[in-house]
Amino acid sequence: MPTMAMAFPTLPVTLTCLTLLALLSIVMAADSNSTATGLILLDCGASSPNVDDSGRIWDGDAGSKFAPSVKGVAATASYQHPSLPSLVPYITTRIFTSNYTYHFPVSPGRLFLRLYFYPIAYANYAVLDAFFDVTAGNLVLLNGFNASQTAQAINSAYLVREFSVNVSSGNLDLTFAPSAHQKGSYAFINGIEIVPTPDIFTTADTREVNANGVIPVSIPADTGFQTMYRLNVGGDAILPIYDSGFYRSWNSDSSYLFGGSGVTVSKDFNLTIQYTPTVPNYTAPFDVYATARSMGPNAQDNLNNNLTWILPVDAGFSYLIRFHFCQIKYPITKVNQMSFFIYINNRTAQQRMDVIVWSGGIGRTAYKDYAIMAIGSGQVDMWIALHPDLESQPEYFDAILNGLEVFKLQGYRSNNLAGLSPPLPQKPDVDPSRLPSVGRKSKGGKLAAVGGTTGGFAFMLIALTITCVTCRQKKVAKSSYKTDCPHLNRLTECRKSTCDLVCRFTFAEIQLVTKDFDEAFIIGRGGFGNVYSGEIDGGTKVAIKRFNQKSQQGFHEFQTEIEMLCNFRHRHLVSLIGYCEEKNEMILVYDYMAHGTLREHLYNTRNPPLSWQQRLEICIGAARGLHYLHTGAEQGIIHRDVKTTNILLDDRFMAKVSDFGLSKASPDIDNTHMSTAVKGTFGYLDPEYFRLQRLTKKSDVYSFGVVLFETLCARPVINTKLPEEQVSLRDWALSCRKKGALEEIIDPRVKEEITLECFRIFAEIAEKCVADRSIDRPSMGDVLWNLEVALQVQDSASYNSSCAESASSLQITAVDSDRPSTNSTISVAAQEAIFSDIAHPEGR
Ligand SMILES: *[C@@H]1O[C@H](CO)[C@@H](O)[C@H](O)[C@H]1NC(C)=O
Ligand SMILES: *[C@@H]1O[C@H](CO)[C@@H](O)[C@H](O)[C@H]1NC(C)=O
Ligand SMILES: *[C@@H]1O[C@H](CO)[C@@H](O)[C@H](O)[C@H]1NC(C)=O
Ligand SMILES: *[C@@H]1O[C@H](CO)[C@@H](O)[C@H](O)[C@H]1NC(C)=O
Ligand SMILES: *[C@@H]1O[C@H](CO)[C@@H](O)[C@H](O)[C@H]1NC(C)=O
Ligand SMILES: *[C@@H]1O[C@H](CO)[C@@H](O)[C@H](O)[C@H]1NC(C)=O
Ligand SMILES: *[C@@H]1O[C@H](CO)[C@@H](O)[C@H](O)[C@H]1NC(C)=O
Ligand SMILES: *[C@@H]1O[C@H](CO)[C@@H](O)[C@H](O)[C@H]1NC(C)=O
Ligand SMILES: *[C@@H]1O[C@H](CO)[C@@H](O)[C@H](O)[C@H]1NC(C)=O
Ligand SMILES: *[C@@H]1O[C@H](CO)[C@@H](O)[C@H](O)[C@H]1NC(C)=O
Repeated sequence: MPTMAMAFPTLPVTLTCLTLLALLSIVMAADSNSTATGLILLDCGASSPNVDDSGRIWDGDAGSKFAPSVKGVAATASYQHPSLPSLVPYITTRIFTSNYTYHFPVSPGRLFLRLYFYPIAYANYAVLDAFFDVTAGNLVLLNGFNASQTAQAINSAYLVREFSVNVSSGNLDLTFAPSAHQKGSYAFINGIEIVPTPDIFTTADTREVNANGVIPVSIPADTGFQTMYRLNVGGDAILPIYDSGFYRSWNSDSSYLFGGSGVTVSKDFNLTIQYTPTVPNYTAPFDVYATARSMGPNAQDNLNNNLTWILPVDAGFSYLIRFHFCQIKYPITKVNQMSFFIYINNRTAQQRMDVIVWSGGIGRTAYKDYAIMAIGSGQVDMWIALHPDLESQPEYFDAILNGLEVFKLQGYRSNNLAGLSPPLPQKPDVDPSRLPSVGRKSKGGKLAAVGGTTGGFAFMLIALTITCVTCRQKKVAKSSYKTDCPHLNRLTECRKSTCDLVCRFTFAEIQLVTKDFDEAFIIGRGGFGNVYSGEIDGGTKVAIKRFNQKSQQGFHEFQTEIEMLCNFRHRHLVSLIGYCEEKNEMILVYDYMAHGTLREHLYNTRNPPLSWQQRLEICIGAARGLHYLHTGAEQGIIHRDVKTTNILLDDRFMAKVSDFGLSKASPDIDNTHMSTAVKGTFGYLDPEYFRLQRLTKKSDVYSFGVVLFETLCARPVINTKLPEEQVSLRDWALSCRKKGALEEIIDPRVKEEITLECFRIFAEIAEKCVADRSIDRPSMGDVLWNLEVALQVQDSASYNSSCAESASSLQITAVDSDRPSTNSTISVAAQEAIFSDIAHPEGR
C-alpha cells in the first residue's frame, strides 16, 4: 500500500516495523462498531476503511451510504507534512468542482461536526484555488473559505473546524459548494467526524456581559456553535482519545497568556477529583480539572497584576465563554480563603468568585458560563483576566482557572457561523507583532509573551529574551579568550546577540590544552566522540567534547547544544564555557564536572556508594534542572535524552543535567504536535512517544522515572543477562511494586538508610512517572515537589537514631500502591524556592 510506505519516511526500518506492530495491536483493540454510538468517521477520498494513529477506524467515502453516487475526485496529497498528527484522514481528499451534499442519517439532537482540512496541492488542483462554502442543513458553517490562507494565518499545515449543531430531523445534510465568486475554484474535504452529544451548551445559567452590566440570558436550544478555543489551562494538550467521550482536543493555554504570567498548579496527590451532579463527567476530562493556572505565591505581585489571556475571535458574533474551575491544592478548602474577579474584555463579569462556594468543596468540579458580543470588524482580541478580590478579605490573594472554552454562536436570527478569512501575517518570519497574539509586552516589561504560533521562531524569541536578562545579570571575565566572542554571529541569528557568556576558542588553543588530544586526557567516550579534560585561564578545569566528524547527527546536535546552553543557564544545567568550530572540527568546552556521571556512582563502578540522602539530593537537582527547562521558557524545552549518564556531578555532588543535542522546543497548541523521528535511549524511551511519535514534556518525565528507579535499585535499566521478566528495570520494578515487593530490589547499600515514609513517596512518584499514558504522569514540577517532600521526611528521620528501626519496619510492611501518598504540606519557602527558579534563572 503506497500510503503506508509514506507514513514514516524518516524512521529507520526497525522502528517502522515496531510502530506498525503497535498500530496493529491498537487496531485489534479498537471498537469497530461505531454505529452503535452514532459516531461517524468518514475518510474522504478513501475507498476502504483506514485506521488513524490513535486507533480509530475511518470509513472511506467511496461507496459509503453517506455519500450516495459521490461525485468529485478522490486524490492523495502530493506531500506529507511532518506535523500532520496522523495520515488518516489527512492524506486523502475529495475534491468537488460543483456542489455536492453528503447525507448523514443521525438521531435528532445535538452533535459535534468536525471538518478536517489539509490544504495542499492535490493531483492537478492548485492549493490556492480551493475557495468554497460549507453548509449544514441551512446553517452556513464556512463562507468563502480560503483553506490555505486560514492555515497560514495560524501557521499550521492542517485545520480542524469543530461545530455543534442541533439537528431536528433525522438527517444532517452537509454541502460543499465551490465559491460562486471565483471562477475555477473548488471545494475539498479530507475528513468528516460526527459525534452525538447531549445538550452541553444551554443548560447552565449563562450571564451576558455588556455595557449595562451582567444580565442572565438564555441561549436558544437550537443554536449552532463553532468551537474557537478549548484550553486545558495550566496543563498539557489532551488528545481526542483521552477526552471524556466526545473526542475533543484540549490545548495548552500558554500560547495565549499575556505577559507570561501565572504559575501552573497540579492537584495534590491525595486529592480525588469528584464530578458534581451539575457537572457530568463528560463536561471535561479529569485532566482538565487536575491542572490549573494560578497567579503565584507572591501576594503583592498578584495585587499588582492580572492573570490575563488574549484570544483572537471574529468580530460581529456573540461568544459563549465557559470557565472550568476546581480547587486542587491544599490548604484551600474553606469558603473565603480565595476570592477573585473575572474580567471579560475589561468588564467585570464576576465579583467574589469563590471556587469553594461555587463547587461545594476542594476537588469538586464546576463551571461558569458567560456570553459576550465581540464588537469591531475582522478579527478582534478577546481579553480574559482574573484578579484577587479583596472585598471579603480572603486569606490568599490569588486566583485559579482550570479550563477555558470559547464558542462562537450562530448569528442572532441568521443562519451564519462563518467569519471572514483571517488576515495573513505580512512577514511571518520577521515581524512578531503581526502574528496573531504574539509579542505583547508585559506590564512589568520583563518577558514578552509569546503565543499564537509555535515552532522555532517563537522559541527563539523567548530564548532571546531570557538570555538578555541572564546575560546582563552576570558577566564572566574570561578575558584571554574573550576577543573572538563577537564573531559568534557566524552561527544562528539567536546566538548573535545573546552569547557574551560563551567564548569561541581557536583549534590551536584546544590542541594546546589537550596536548593535541592526548589519550591520557580522555575522560569519557560516546557515540559523538571523546571528552577530554584540560585547563584554561591558568587553572580553570574544563571538559572538552570533540565531536566525531563522521557522526551524521553531529553538526545538528552541536548547534542545538550551543543554542540551548547559550540560552538556558541554571545551576542544575551544565554550563558551556565556549566552543570551537574550525577546520571541520566541532568542539564544546564545558565546566569540568569532578565526579563524572551519576551512573558511575551507582553500579559497575569502584566509586564508593552514594548515600540515600545524596541520591535524593541529586535526583532533586536533576528534577530542578528539567523543571526549569520545561517551564523556564514560554513553550518549554524537551530534553529528549534524560538518563543517568546525562546527569553530571560537580565536586560537591551537585547534579547538572547535560547533553542537549536532542533537545527541542516543546509542542504547544494542538496544531503543532511535534511529530518527529523517535530519538532517545533504549530503556528510557517513553512508549507513547515511540508509538504515536508525539513528543511531549511527559516523555522526559517518563525517562526521569526510569532514572529514579535506577537510583533506587542501582542496576542497569536494560540487562539482557537477567531472566526475561527482569530485563527491563521499569517493568521489573513495576511488577515488584504490584506484589508489594519493591523494597526487595532496593540497592542493599542504602536499604538500611531509607525511611519507610521516604521510600513510599519516592516509589510512588517513580511509578507515576513511568505510567503508560502520558496524561497519567505528573509534571516535572510535581515530581520535584514530591522529591522535596521525600527529602524532608528523610531528613527529619535522620535526626533521630531510629533509622534502623524504620528500615526494619520497611522490610515487613507491604506497600499498598492504592494508598494516597504523603499529606505533608510544603512550606511556602519551599514553594517559593521552586518557583524562584523559574522567575530568576540563575547564571553561574
Ligand atoms: C453494530 O451496531 C448496530 C446498531 O446498534 C447493530 O445493529 C449491529 O448489530 C452491530 N454490529 C455488530 C457487529 O456488533
Ligand atoms: C487564498 O489566499 C491566498 C493568500 O494566502 C491568495 O493568494 C489566494 O488567491 C486566495 N485564493 C482565492 C481563491 O481567493
Ligand atoms: C451551490 O451552493 C450554493 C450555496 O452554498 C448556492 O448558492 C448555489 O446556487 C449552488 N449551486 C448550484 C448549481 O446548485
Ligand atoms: C434541540 O432543539 C430543540 C428545539 O429546537 C430542543 O427541544 C432540544 O432540546 C434540543 N436538543 C438538544 C440536545 O439541545
Ligand atoms: C461517566 O460516568 C458514567 C456513569 O455516570 C460512567 O458510566 C462513564 O464511564 C463515565 N465516563 C467517564 C469518561 O469517566
Ligand atoms: C482592555 O484594556 C487594555 C489596556 O488595559 C487594552 O489594551 C485592550 O484593548 C482592552 N481590551 C478590550 C477588549 O477592550
Ligand atoms: C485588571 O484588569 C481590569 C479590567 O481590565 C482593570 O480594570 C485593572 O486595572 C487591571 N488590574 C491590573 C493590576 O492590571
Ligand atoms: C524522633 O524521635 C522522637 C523521640 O524519640 C519522636 O518523638 C519523634 O516522633 C521522632 N521523629 C521522627 C520523625 O521519627
Ligand atoms: C491531604 O493532605 C492535606 C495536607 O497536605 C491534608 O490536610 C488532608 O487532610 C489530606 N486529605 C486526605 C483525604 O488525606
Ligand atoms: C497526615 O495525615 C495523618 C493522618 O491522615 C495525620 O495524622 C498527620 O498529622 C498528617 N500530617 C500532616 C503533616 O498534615
